[in-house]
Amino acid sequence: SGAAQPARIVAPTPENIARAAALLRAGKLVALPTETVYGLGADALDAAAATGIFHAKGRPADHPLIVHLPSAEHLSRWARRIPKEALALVRAFWPGPLTLILPREDDVPDVVTGGQDTVGLRVPAHPVALALLQAFDSGIAAPSANRFGRISPTTAAHVEQELGARVDLILDGGPCQVGIESTILDLSRDEPEILRPGAITAEGIARVIGRRPRVRGESAAQPEQHAPRVSGALAAHYAPATALRLLPGSELAAEAVRLAAQGRHVAVLAHACPYPGDDRLQWVAAGPDPGRYAHDLYAHLRALDALGADCLLVEAPPAVPAWSAIADRLGRAAVGSGESDET
Ligand code: TXA
Ligand code: MG
Repeated sequence: SGAAQPARIVAPTPENIARAAALLRAGKLVALPTETVYGLGADALDAAAATGIFHAKGRPADHPLIVHLPSAEHLSRWARRIPKEALALVRAFWPGPLTLILPREDDVPDVVTGGQDTVGLRVPAHPVALALLQAFDSGIAAPSANRFGRISPTTAAHVEQELGARVDLILDGGPCQVGIESTILDLSRDEPEILRPGAITAEGIARVIGRRPRVRGESAAQPEQHAPRVSGALAAHYAPATALRLLPGSELAAEAVRLAAQGRHVAVLAHACPYPGDDRLQWVAAGPDPGRYAHDLYAHLRALDALGADCLLVEAPPAVPAWSAIADRLGRAAVGSGESDET
């Protein structure tokens, strides 16, 4: 009968979409599904409402928010200059998992942009997000709907676990199709630069604009010039509480069995390495397809973390473009993991 489900999680009926839009107009917080991850939404032109996002997440104020738009026609309301390359990318990828950083219009609140002269914009490819955006008919500021530094939610139940009563309504759009956050491309300066990798790759962008964007962190000779403009660039991000280690497929099974033989409780996330048939291990085989892997990644990390194992071993992804966004998230998860460890 669904009696166990909190009333905060609702089906995306027309009535509930209208109710969500009304809540946003009243300055409240609404969680919405997108094709990437669930977002924690507020009216992007309401500075007080957007400030509420930071409180709900426990997020530092210098981390700007992405503004979600109903359609590309809204771009000029938010960006004061739209380069040709932006228009070509919008035509190719919107609605979709690409966020563009552009020079902002004057009245975009500082709390949304982190006081910067730029704003992050995207049109999400999810029918529920689009229905809400069309009903609201303006920009919705929405970071991922998790507590700061934790694993992003890809189901309505994850949002409830993360934020509970801190969010006024959660629209349930089912599991997110892409599963990891959007590609962030900075077009506000001379050279396009990917600040955060995602499902839309540097190679895909190059095919549209005729040049390959730089990728932050890709070349070692690239010092951080600014304060953290992208929260995903912080070391401790997307982090499970269980200590997480990345291991090549050639070492994964042997190391897992070795630790289990020492009496350690070992959880494993593999994609190519075969299960060694040791039932002391909690072994998840995510499969070799990167799209499927990304789709399930955060749900797997959440479930494996909930086991309370001594360690979580993850098979290192292949060093090819189709896996680069996954490799980025796993790398950050490894660095930030195990915070609650006493060692
Ligand atoms: O897929 C996504 O992008 C999801 C869904 C909900 O749309 N949102 C998301 O938001 O991942 P969040 O806040 O977790 O990450 C947004 C990132 C942050 O790292 C933030 O620093 C960066 O976007 N960002 C936003 N505005 C920016 C700006 N003007 N300049 C540089 N980075 C910006
Ligand atoms: Mg996030």
